[in-house]
Amino acid sequence: VSTIGILTSGGDAPGMNAAIRAVTRTALGYGLKVKGIRRGFNGLLEEDIVDLDGRNVSDIIQRGGTILYTARCKEFTTEEGQNRGAEVCRKHNIDGLVVIGGDGSFRGAGKLAERGINTVGIPGTIDLDIACTEYTIGFDTAVNTAMEAIDKVRDTSTSHERCSIIEVMGRHAGFIALWCGIANGAEDILIAERYDYNEQSIIDNIIRRKESGKKHHIIVNAEGVGDSYEMAKRIEEATDIETRATIIGHIQRGGSPTCRDRVYASTMGAYAVDLLYKGASRRVVAHKDGKFVDFDIQEALSMEKDIDQYLYDLSRRLSR
Ligand code: F6P
Repeated sequence: VSTIGILTSGGDAPGMNAAIRAVTRTALGYGLKVKGIRRGFNGLLEEDIVDLDGRNVSDIIQRGGTILYTARCKEFTTEEGQNRGAEVCRKHNIDGLVVIGGDGSFRGAGKLAERGINTVGIPGTIDLDIACTEYTIGFDTAVNTAMEAIDKVRDTSTSHERCSIIEVMGRHAGFIALWCGIANGAEDILIAERYDYNEQSIIDNIIRRKESGKKHHIIVNAEGVGDSYEMAKRIEEATDIETRATIIGHIQRGGSPTCRDRVYASTMGAYAVDLLYKGASRRVVAHKDGKFVDFDIQEALSMEKDIDQYLYDLSRRLSR
């Protein structure tokens, strides 16, 4: 390879900047050129491409978001878009491309690889919902942000002896809710993966726990499992216990990355460039069984992931 392109795609995640920095500096270390593609695959199609040198990525390792901006790109799911993407890469001499994002972004990377552009994906999403890897950039920061927010809600919830429904992110994945459920000692966790939502049993639990002396009741709700505000109204009516809903929202996607997110994102960025330098293509970097590894993109996309049953059961066992 002679020129490495890099883009971030899909929802942003804290730690993406650390990965961009690592990709850039590793490539420069090999004597390669580096081009930043802005706004994901949209920017590729629109040729929104800038040269990156060592200084462009100074002072970003500690910053959330992505200096390259990000977007979700419908056009890149079409053959026409993919052909054009490969053409733009060739026009700008980009013969190795690092794509930081989720499964949708990897699908795009796979399509470019079929068209002769060497590509490597890096898992970047706060949702942790990428099957081939036990780590994704941003999850650690997001789950710590959510945990701290829930601690704060819990303080006031306890003072008022209320029930709180706290909605965390993860439209299709309950990992943030599960981890916070355990870390925050929630009484209930509502996640789509184990969705047998039975409001009456939640209500019975709230009443039983109140009788046993509990001063609060925290329900962590993964985004997408019912409407938290409506749920709060129904629960208050049925239990006669004041109930409030809090949606933590996008603050979970921002903020300075944790140490783990900085170190793992940096490692994955360097690893991706090492792969491209060796001539590899259509790979995804992953962290599995304590090691950084890589998989074929198609193989990675065909894998499935479920939440850890032991962790789920643990959250139930500890919420007495
Ligand atoms: O995939 C990351 C994520 O933050 C999900 O947890 C959430 O469901 C979604 O993105 C929200 O997307 P948007 O920022 O486009 O509303």
